[in-house]
Amino acid sequence: MAKTDAPKRAYTITGGVPLVGEIRVSGAKNAATKELVACLLADEPVTLENVPQIGDVEVTISMLRDLGAKVTIKDGTVTVDASALGTFEVSAEFSRKNRIPILLLGPLLHRFGKAVIPALGGCTIGARPIDFHLEALKRMGAEIVCDDESYTAIAKKRLTGASIELAFPSVGATENVILAAVKAKGTTIIKNAAIEPEIMDLAMLLQSMGAIINLDANRTWIIEGVERLGGATHRVLPDRIEAASFAAAAALTGGDILIREAQQAGLMQYLNALTRVGVPFEVLEEGIRFRSAPTYHPTTIETDVHPGFMTDWQQPFVMLLTQADGVSIVHETVYEDRFGYTEALRRMGAKVQLHKECLGSKTCRFVNRDYRHSAIIVGKTPLQAADIEIPDLRAGFSYLIAALIAQGESHLTGV
Ligand code: UD1
Repeated sequence: MAKTDAPKRAYTITGGVPLVGEIRVSGAKNAATKELVACLLADEPVTLENVPQIGDVEVTISMLRDLGAKVTIKDGTVTVDASALGTFEVSAEFSRKNRIPILLLGPLLHRFGKAVIPALGGCTIGARPIDFHLEALKRMGAEIVCDDESYTAIAKKRLTGASIELAFPSVGATENVILAAVKAKGTTIIKNAAIEPEIMDLAMLLQSMGAIINLDANRTWIIEGVERLGGATHRVLPDRIEAASFAAAAALTGGDILIREAQQAGLMQYLNALTRVGVPFEVLEEGIRFRSAPTYHPTTIETDVHPGFMTDWQQPFVMLLTQADGVSIVHETVYEDRFGYTEALRRMGAKVQLHKECLGSKTCRFVNRDYRHSAIIVGKTPLQAADIEIPDLRAGFSYLIAALIAQGESHLTGV
């Protein structure tokens, strides 16, 4: 695979080569970026190990530095000293880069009683509102006004604990409330909360820093606010989305990959789905080894919040289903618009039809709302190389796999 930097960053990929070997999975992007934000809550240095060296982390670190935190980085270990933050205003330079700035609301309100956050970015996979975040922070005592370019929040006194019930178990909103609640006055209860392993990892870091936080039954987080948080050292958990992506790449290219540090616990539903389609894997002490099989079976999948089948596994798994013998169905219940990427797969020869109906065992929030959030995939279809622009992170990896198994030379831009 050749990588070029000019005139636009792109990959040129010639398909047909099995991926064989081993790779160590990175630290989880969706935990590391939030844990970097959590460091701002401490008045002593916090050290994070196994931080992935990726764009989203670079953006987040630049943002922390811009706020006045001292950040040192050495071989995936990042130490943040936020004892002398200089400003409550996240620079407009970070506008629309990713979705992390909104999580700074709690830490900045605790430090300064004020926070100014620029408009958010992130993958274009649906409307991605932040109404739950803002509503919850208001319940905790923040006054928030927004315009097209920024959110300005003010807390006249220390944020106070509240009982908050989310309309949907949003990952970001749960994290936002946790980051505000750990130093709030009194107890916060978050009902119908997200309980993803990456959030548990964040909670474990916060506990090491001195927070009192617990996951109770029925998707409920209970957090007793404390007055101060101190230093800690924490290792970011391995990235289960990256592991799932490499697993699909091994199965589809006729390969054999040992993914070092891949953890079975966070991948349960993915591994079940792999067994249903016939992808062999072996759970070892050092990681999980994924192999290929001559044929794959079709199946039905419904994405869901944890402990369900992750929406971020959907794209590599759909690739797998394009190469299964028969008709598969995927019902996306987390994002209303997460199949846009299949258009390019159709151009390459895949048979993927999108439907507005809930084609699954249950109806979801998107029923009767005109969103094409179910897919019927008919396999097995050979793929032809194509020139494709990557629309979002996870779709990008499925295009990469498509190019790896297609006949001819593909060009991926937007990497
Ligand atoms: C995070 C992950 C993303 C993953 C997603 C679901 C990061 C950086 N990103 O995104 O990879 O796909 O969780 O596991 O961790 N919603 C609202 N109002 C809100 C907040 C969310 O309606 O205020 C809706 C969203 O539009 C979406 C659903 O809730 O339909 C889930 O979103 P959420 O869990 O918040 O996703 P993110 O935290 O943005």
